[in-house]
Amino acid sequence: METILIQMEENGPDRDGIARAGEIIRRGGLVAFPTETVYGLGGDALNPASSRKIYAAKGRPSDNPLIVHICRWRDIYRIAQPVPEAAKKLADAFWPGPLTMILHKTALVPKETTGGLDTVAVRYPMDGTALALIDAAGGFVAAPSANASGRPSPTLARYVREDLDGRIDMILDGGEVGIGLESTIVDLTEEKPMILRPGYVTKEMLESVLGPVETDRTILDADCKLPPRAPGMRYRHYAPKGELTILEGEPEAVAETVCARSRRAKERGEKVGIIAADELLSRYRADSRADSVKSVGSRTDEEAVGRSLYRILREFDDEGITVIFSESFPEGGFGQAIMNRLLKAAGHRIEKAEGEGK
Ligand code: TXA
Ligand code: MG
Repeated sequence: METILIQMEENGPDRDGIARAGEIIRRGGLVAFPTETVYGLGGDALNPASSRKIYAAKGRPSDNPLIVHICRWRDIYRIAQPVPEAAKKLADAFWPGPLTMILHKTALVPKETTGGLDTVAVRYPMDGTALALIDAAGGFVAAPSANASGRPSPTLARYVREDLDGRIDMILDGGEVGIGLESTIVDLTEEKPMILRPGYVTKEMLESVLGPVETDRTILDADCKLPPRAPGMRYRHYAPKGELTILEGEPEAVAETVCARSRRAKERGEKVGIIAADELLSRYRADSRADSVKSVGSRTDEEAVGRSLYRILREFDDEGITVIFSESFPEGGFGQAIMNRLLKAAGHRIEKAEGEGK
């Protein structure tokens, strides 16, 4: 199949392109589109055949449920029942935006879309192209991140193309996304709200609206043997081809350790990449002999770090990097989402930097 690429205009969605894309989804086809978090791979959420196609295109296990994207509040009542007070409060505060809520589903939503579960993940995104597309497609668009299963979520249309060209009908190119990490997922089907995936809407933000919110233990504790409540968090996502190790500690000790480790890896013939904040960049460039040193921006600018992380992991893949070292980042607020993704990419390999590069 030939994948059509449509460039969205700077000043808003291209009406003709959106109409074509909506038509494709209504007929059971697949269209990748930008959202404020990452690119999504959209199909008709109410059509079981479309959901099956999504799993096939991504190479994704079909027990991993999809998020249903809507473009107006009232549509939630068609796919979720009951809609609890907590959902209304969260929607008032954060929708449209980078928040997904898990609710009990109605019969309208096929099991193929929810990976066999009786619950449904609902998201009302705020990106203009996404909203126009969902509307044109009939109002209910199932969309996982538009990467091949196991690769970092795409923050640019170019990466969607790398992973899915020839496997989907169309890609809407809306440029680089704003946030760069997937939406926060909060489960509202149990007595207490629980975060299943941290994201841009932080625990503190949710608590300011709902009061106490819990976090799935499997997110906080790498050694936790329980299965994660969001099936997708079980898979080793976001995995770069190179072996990634995170070093934490005082900046000086981290710089020294990373440089020493990098030089040793070079001696073994590895191709080394370093993920650094601006603050230590010149140190690595001078002392590490690494093949590629990339900045995520200033370590105090969480938004810049979140936006660049997946892009950098993909760039290292393209450059054939075999060993990656990364600084660790503060875990408060949005930092929790950043470290959650970085730790998953590292297969939870994190070490304390003691200086002198042991
Ligand atoms: O930001 C985002 O959420 C992006 C954009 C495209 O909207 N989408 C996204 O979808 O990240 P995906 O499929 O890559 O991740 C969805 C996650 C998976 O971990 C899945 O297991 C979980 O949501 N999930 C979906 N439905 C669920 C349900 N009913 N119960 C628990 N977890 C669910
Ligand atoms: Mg994904």
